[in-house]
Amino acid sequence: MVKLAPSILSADFSKLLEHVQEVEAAGVEYLHIDVMDGHFVPNISFGAPILKSLKGKTNLFMDVHLMIENPDLYIEDFVKAGADLINVHIEACPHIHRTIQLIRSFGVKAAVALNPGTPLSSIEEILPDLDMVLIMSVNPGFGGQSYIDSMTDKIKRLKDMIQSKGLVCDIQVDGGIKLDNVKAVVDAGATVIVAGSAIFNTPSIDETVKAFRKVL
Ligand code: DX5
Ligand code: ZN
Repeated sequence: MVKLAPSILSADFSKLLEHVQEVEAAGVEYLHIDVMDGHFVPNISFGAPILKSLKGKTNLFMDVHLMIENPDLYIEDFVKAGADLINVHIEACPHIHRTIQLIRSFGVKAAVALNPGTPLSSIEEILPDLDMVLIMSVNPGFGGQSYIDSMTDKIKRLKDMIQSKGLVCDIQVDGGIKLDNVKAVVDAGATVIVAGSAIFNTPSIDETVKAFRKVL
């Protein structure tokens, strides 16, 4: 079954817990936590304290997307704050094998994200060590951007790469996913769907999550 991962980047932070409880009650599986440092991406979002503030208040799987430089320095903080999975960008990790081992040493799942312009070959060697690969379908930094169409073919090629190696690895897609394009993304091979503005910038979170499920 395809998992839904609402991104809290588009939530109203003054009502964060309320919004988290709403998506949880609507039946999503993951909560996508977009961490931005103003260096790796041209925007600053929030850090581990925000994640920690939700600890013990939700049973959602905490999927932490680190859009930061030097992620090795902060992985432990995010695990302590409640992360179930740590996702680092390949472009920010010159020693990706070491970084993945570091994530695993804390007993959480490990994933690698690729910017739209980064080729799949950059993760080929590390693929057997990953629980998930994140295909960015927008240039990271902001919610509410448009899906880059050429990423659909990249998702298909990643699926082929995973299958040809006989591996089990989730494919997460993040950026510009709406009700009208999610089916194409899933048909291409996505198994975890991130949606920020499409879920939080709607009159009813519950109805929107149900509408996503219907399409899936
Ligand atoms: C982009 C973030 C995304 C973003 C998705 O840098 O990684 O997770 O919040 O937002 P939407 O779904 O609005 O494109
Ligand atoms: Zn994200």
